[in-house]
Order: sequence, then structure tokens, then C-alpha cells
Amino acid sequence: MDSRLPETSRKKLEAWFRYYHDLNFGEFYIDRRTMGKRSVKPPAVGAQIAAPALLLSASAATAAKIGASPTSALPVVQDSSLFEAIDRVEGDTLQIISENLGECTRCRLHKKRNKIVFGAGNARAQLVFVGEGPGHDEDMQGLPFVGRAGKLLTQMIEAMGLTREDVYICNVVKCRPPENRKPEDDEVATCSPYLYRQLDVIAPKAIVCLGGVAAQTLLKTKDPISRFRGNWYDFRNTKLLATYHPAYLLRNPAAKSEVWRDLQKVMAHLGLKAKKAPR
Ligand code: URA
Repeated sequence: MDSRLPETSRKKLEAWFRYYHDLNFGEFYIDRRTMGKRSVKPPAVGAQIAAPALLLSASAATAAKIGASPTSALPVVQDSSLFEAIDRVEGDTLQIISENLGECTRCRLHKKRNKIVFGAGNARAQLVFVGEGPGHDEDMQGLPFVGRAGKLLTQMIEAMGLTREDVYICNVVKCRPPENRKPEDDEVATCSPYLYRQLDVIAPKAIVCLGGVAAQTLLKTKDPISRFRGNWYDFRNTKLLATYHPAYLLRNPAAKSEVWRDLQKVMAHLGLKAKKAPR
């Protein structure tokens, strides 16, 4: 019997291993307890193959030590990201993360993207803003928050007495979801380890999630943002606060005052003095 994998399956498997290697996973083994439940038929040529059943060498205690632990009780609805089960990547830099990402084809979003939007700003920023995913303008320029919502974000940053060069801005997914739809759970799961690494490398004093997707991803909840907006949470030992997305503010300008109140909390935490509320 020819036990070689079909070429397409082999390529996909290779890509998965490269992905986990990029995330610093060194040890893989198959969980044989799950083997009996699986079909032993070889995958059809061109069939989607799932990630191998992986057991990680890191202990549950390590995972508990470094995992996200919001200070208020948010229901955990997803399994932890695989990345969270390992310690921080030794010697990691934004450049290495960007190189690991490469011309990423790990999820379907790559098919329609023009440019990957990795993130931009100060690699040693005290404050990181995390959005949802690139829109049309960002996809064209390869830079985060450069469209209408981005202009509003710039005003918010400047009202805090900062510039875009002082902070770091990135997104949960690095490729534009078609028609600006919300990223799907599997797209978030594939892309978010790179966000975790960016946050670990920058090690800011505060993270501001812009909108529900960013907050739900980092806080591991499906609760609507209205439930936890404006409160401080702990994310891997960094203070995290969620506020409304600037695109929401463009549609609902009345919510700007709530966002300004949230940003004032961030400023107090960073020891910044406000100029004046943005209009
Ligand atoms: N909206 C986002 O969430 N991110 C961007 O980069 C632009 C718009």
C-alpha cells in the first residue's frame, strides 16, 4: 500500500507545522486516546485536513500563570489560544513576528487581501490600541486605521496629548475581511497568536480594545461590549480597557462622551494630562 500523503495534503500539513514552529512549539505528539474516534481513511486529495491533535509540552500551571485573567467575572467561552499555553517567545521582536507571518495564507482572508496590515507605531509604546481588522483604505496602504475611522482615532489620540507615533496600533486580524464583515472565529483563532506576540513584545502599560471583536478576543468572552466597556481588566498582567470602535462613533456621535471618559481613565493610568475633549 502506498502510504505517502497526497501532495496537497502534505503541503497543508507542512504549512501547519510551519505555523506552529513560528509560534515556538517544539514538541508535537498525537493524542492516541483520540485516535480510535477518528476515521483512518486517508484524506481525499484536496480535502481540508484539520490540525493534528496536539498536546503541548507546557504544563497547565504555566498556562494558568500567563493566561488572560480578567478581574471581573466574564464567562470564558473559547478554549485558550494554543499560544497562551506556552511561555513568552524568548528574543521575539516585531520584525521576527512580521517575518513569521510572511505572505500569510493560513486562513481564507488572504485570498482577497491586497496588503497585510501588521500594525504600526512605537515598538516601545506604553499604550496599544487594538482594532478589529483592516478596512478598504488599510488594505490598500498596509497601515492600520488610515480611513475615516482612523482619522477619528488620530483625533482621540491627540486629545490624549499623544501622537500616533507615541502609541502602537494593530488589529485582531491582519487581512481585510471581505465587505468589511466581522472576522470569523477560525480566522481570529489563526491570526490572534501574532497579536498576542505583538503585545508581549511591546509590553505596554495599557491596552485599549477598540470595539467588541478586539475585546471579546482578548478577554475570551462573547458578551456584548456594552457589558464591560470602560472597566479595567487584566490581560497577561497588563491593564486592558475596552471602548467603542471609532467606526461606531461615526454612526453614533453621542457615544463620544462615553469614549472620552474611558480614555481619561487610560490617561490617568498613564499619568497623562488631557488637552480637551475631542469634538
Ligand atoms: N477598523 C479596524 O478595526 N481596524 C482598522 O485598521 C481600520 C478600521
